Amino acid sequence: MIVFTHIKSLLQTRTEPTLVVKGRAMKILPHINNAWMSVRDEKIEGFGSMDDFQPSDFDGYEVIDASGRFVLPAWVDSHTHLVFADWRNQEFEDRIKGLTYQEIAERGGGILNSAQKLNEQTEDQLYDAAFARLQGLINKGTGAIEIKSGYGLNLEAELKMLRVIKRLRENVPIPIKSTFLGAHAFPEDFKHRQDEYVNHIIEVMIPEVASQKLAEYIDVFCEEGYFSVAQTERILSAGAAHGLKAKVHVNQFNAIGGIEASVKHKAISVDHLEVLDDRDIHALKGSSTIAVALPSCSFFLEIPYTPARALMENDIAVALATDFNPGSTPSGNMNFVFSLACIKMKMRPEEAVNAMTINAAAAMEISDRCGAISTGYLANFIVTERINALSFLPYAFGEGHLSAVYINGKKVEA
Ligand code: NIG
Ligand code: FE
Repeated sequence: MIVFTHIKSLLQTRTEPTLVVKGRAMKILPHINNAWMSVRDEKIEGFGSMDDFQPSDFDGYEVIDASGRFVLPAWVDSHTHLVFADWRNQEFEDRIKGLTYQEIAERGGGILNSAQKLNEQTEDQLYDAAFARLQGLINKGTGAIEIKSGYGLNLEAELKMLRVIKRLRENVPIPIKSTFLGAHAFPEDFKHRQDEYVNHIIEVMIPEVASQKLAEYIDVFCEEGYFSVAQTERILSAGAAHGLKAKVHVNQFNAIGGIEASVKHKAISVDHLEVLDDRDIHALKGSSTIAVALPSCSFFLEIPYTPARALMENDIAVALATDFNPGSTPSGNMNFVFSLACIKMKMRPEEAVNAMTINAAAAMEISDRCGAISTGYLANFIVTERINALSFLPYAFGEGHLSAVYINGKKVEA
């Protein structure tokens, strides 16, 4: 049992049940200045203003003076490819010399390069590397994460990735959601018979993944040169028939109608959205699908940033995630995402915090227990260094400025 006192500002305090914050409302970040917060049995027990604090209510609690510090929910990273076999910095060097991400993929690099390496590794090797990466991210403030398959591209290797995610879930004490992304790219041997691979995903992979209960979500890379809108729709329908809800990679390089299709299939989220047209905005407006922006991917690939302001002005719920993967985003650092969201996407710090906590939790369907400072919610939270204002966190970029991360009420030892 712990009680934090004299918290300079306690952020994202929700007393009314709130599952998602839509567009224009995102500029409001509920908070209590000069606050206290207590933790018991791995949950947030209570919080309030120091004006109403009764020390006698907390006999037997460890008391931590948080003067000068902000306390906020741990970051929720709703889009990662955390399980992978190896880094791809050779491709990074090629890009520095002038090749594009797409050109590298066309030469057999990219996702296919990762798939080949993953097929050569054992489940234990993959698990050990992913476990170590995940510990690193938790130290940087990540308190819940979604992880995708998609570097297997055949039944056995996809199941191997999903079993690694399952093992992470059993051994790492943060919420972890698992997404089946067999439709990430066409494997080499299906290059000239793409619809056969789609059929294989639908007839063989999805039923197997679902019967082994290895994923909650289904994802497709809907993009020119990858999966068409029609193929995406077939895969999403098959997923839905097996209880897998949609989270879709879409509009990364081209607007081809994938957002409208995803919304039609009641996608929980559509992710990337670097290139958006009016039809896409119109499809999202009024829907319950969350728009997930991945600014570290834009930074690394030097592609446009998701127009978050336009999305928010249309009252669309925006979330922010890392997209951590070895090809397009070799960083799982949410603190850097925070800086990019403010610097490059012109999100206000308050909007970005909503996008990285409550809305990100909504994009993983866990916002009833995670992503806010609410009574009974998981005690996964961040205590910052002494800072003068929230804006200091994204402003002084490249560092988290976190002094402690708590998971289930326990301080994480870095
Ligand atoms: O989200 N866009 C598709 N997939 C990943 C990148 C995969 C890779 O390059 O390995 C992404 O950016
Ligand atoms: Fe991704």
